[in-house]
Amino acid sequence: MTQPVALVTGSSRGIGLAIARRLRQRGLRVIGHATRAIDADTIPADLADPTAPGRLWDEALDRADGQIAMLVNNAGMFAANPIGLSDIEWLDNWEDTLRINLTAAAELSRFAVKHWLADDQPGRIVHIASRAGYRGDSPDHWHYAAAKAGMIAMHKTIARHYAIKGIMSYAICPGFTDTSMADDYLASRGGAGLLADIPLGRVATPDEIATMAVFCALDAPESMTGAVLDANGASYVR
Ligand SMILES: NC(=O)c1ccc[n+]([C@@H]2O[C@H](COP(=O)([O-])OP(=O)(O)OC[C@H]3O[C@@H](n4cnc5c(N)ncnc54)[C@H](OP(=O)(O)O)[C@@H]3O)[C@@H](O)[C@H]2O)c1
Repeated sequence: MTQPVALVTGSSRGIGLAIARRLRQRGLRVIGHATRAIDADTIPADLADPTAPGRLWDEALDRADGQIAMLVNNAGMFAANPIGLSDIEWLDNWEDTLRINLTAAAELSRFAVKHWLADDQPGRIVHIASRAGYRGDSPDHWHYAAAKAGMIAMHKTIARHYAIKGIMSYAICPGFTDTSMADDYLASRGGAGLLADIPLGRVATPDEIATMAVFCALDAPESMTGAVLDANGASYVR
């Protein structure tokens, strides 16, 4: 049996690193990705560059000898975009976040779906979205919330259309998770006081999100395709 291959974007740190580690523990070969070359298993590609998703997919497929079984769309950025910025600054920030957090994930999902359809193979996509996609976010993060809502809608569309072909799509919506991304946010929004909004009394850990992602990638029943799983300590209960 050949070892199944997963492409995990944003695997250099935080949630993506935890997902890559757990998938490797489960016997998968993981092709990682980050903005920079950190090791031989990680493909560098800055997803702000419109040509990057295509290059990343081609390079990953090449390294995987033409067979990728899973895609984890995890890479993302969270940068403030106050409405008081100049019009062009605000628009630039909007477009960067939409490109990195949504458009790149859409392009990679499209490449993956086409790959599985062409080979008549099953495949799975796991999208790391956000609580913000349902609840909205801070006044400085319209773009982030919109990108994650778009990711959720895209995920449901993929799930509905390609399930019959054996292509499954799952989405996870973390709330605050203990990574550098959450640290930046907590610092900008008043620090630990925000934890009062989380009934669990703490933020999620990257390992908790990775447990869910690995479940979706490997164990979740096919009938669960299209599901959106929350991980927010009951801070936003749908
Ligand atoms: N942490 C939270 O509270 C939280 C909550 C909800 C959802 N999420 C989502 O979970 C995912 C992972 O977040 P995290 O907290 O683990 O973030 P993180 O620790 O900041 O890591 C972000 C990852 O994405 C990569 N990345 C960032 N910008 C990129 C770009 N322009 N091109 C390519 N890769 C890029 C980073 O690569 P480099 O190391 O090369 O920069 C890194 O691997 C994101 O999609 C995020 O929106 C996080």
